[in-house]
Amino acid sequence: MRTTHLVVGASGQVGSHLLSELQNLGDRCLGTYHRRSRPGLIPLDLEHSDGIHALLAAEMPSVVWMPAALPDVDLCEREPELSHRINVGAVSTLAEASRRIGARFVFYSTDYVFDGTHGPYFEEDAAHPLQVYGRHKLEAETWLLEHLKEVLIIRTAWVYSQEANPRNFIYRIEQQLQSGNMLKAATDQVSTPTEAQDLAKRSIQAVREGMTQILHVVGPNRLSRYDWTVALAQQFGYSSEVVQPVLTESIGLLAARPLNGGLATRYSR
Ligand SMILES: NC(=O)c1ccc[n+]([C@@H]2O[C@H](COP(=O)([O-])OP(=O)(O)OC[C@H]3O[C@@H](n4cnc5c(N)ncnc54)[C@H](OP(=O)(O)O)[C@@H]3O)[C@@H](O)[C@H]2O)c1
Repeated sequence: MRTTHLVVGASGQVGSHLLSELQNLGDRCLGTYHRRSRPGLIPLDLEHSDGIHALLAAEMPSVVWMPAALPDVDLCEREPELSHRINVGAVSTLAEASRRIGARFVFYSTDYVFDGTHGPYFEEDAAHPLQVYGRHKLEAETWLLEHLKEVLIIRTAWVYSQEANPRNFIYRIEQQLQSGNMLKAATDQVSTPTEAQDLAKRSIQAVREGMTQILHVVGPNRLSRYDWTVALAQQFGYSSEVVQPVLTESIGLLAARPLNGGLATRYSR
C-alpha cells in the first residue's frame, strides 16, 4: 500500500522543508497550515480536536509528522495557557488520533528542554528546562513516551534556511544589515545551528530506519550567537564590526535561554 504522509504545520520553517523532501520520495503527501495559507495545504487549527480527528479519519495517513508548535519562546512565557494548549494539549490529541488509525507519530522538540549549563547534550542527558516553552515541550515528550510505543521525538536547535521568512534567522540578519542597522549578538549563547533541509532529510532517514524514542538532529558546528552572526554578516559582504558582542542578560529577553547549550547525538550522521 502507498505510504501517506501528513505534515501538521507544513507552513512553518521545519514543516515546509519536510513536506518538500517527502514529496521527492513520490509518496502521497499532505500538509496543513493554520494562519499562513500556502497553495495545496489544508487548513487545520490544533485547538479544535474535532478537526484533528476528522482530518485523520478522512485521509488515513500512515505517518503523521508534527513540526507544528508555538515556538516563540517569549510568547510562551507571556501566554503559558496558550503555550500549554498547543505545545502539550494539541500534541497529545494529535498523537492519540494517530494511534487510533495506526499511524506512526513523529514529533519535533528542542534543545530548550536542557538548561544550558554543560552542553552539548546527548539524547539520554537529564532534561531541566528554564522557561515555559521548554517545560511544555518536555511535558509533551514525556506524555508521548508514556503513551505511544513507536513514537519518534526529534530534538533540534537553531534551525535556519534560505527562505525569505522572518522566522528564519539568516533572513532576519540580512534584512537588518540591508536596512543599515547595527546588530547585537550574544557571546554567551552557544548552540548547534541546523539547516532545515538537512534536518528534513535526516528525519526521513530516521523514520525509514525505524528509529523510535529520542533522536538529536543538528548541524555539525557548535558556536556562539555572536560568532554565527559575524560569519553571516561576512557572507553578506559586511565587516565583523557591524555586529556588537553583548551578554544575553543585557538583551532583556522575557524568557531565560540555555547558554552553554546545543545538542550532540549517539547516532552517527
Ligand atoms: N526554529 C528553530 O530554531 C527550532 C529549534 C528547535 C526546535 N524547533 C522545533 O521545531 C518545530 C518547528 O519549528 P519551526 O521553526 O518550523 O516553527 P514555525 O516556523 O513557527 O512553524 C510552526 C508551525 O505550527 C503551525 N501552528 C502554530 N499554531 C497552530 C495551531 N493553533 N494550529 C495548527 N497549526 C499551528 C504554524 O502554522 P501557521 O504558520 O500557518 O500559522 C506553522 O506551520 C517546533 O516543534 C519547534 O519546537 C525549532
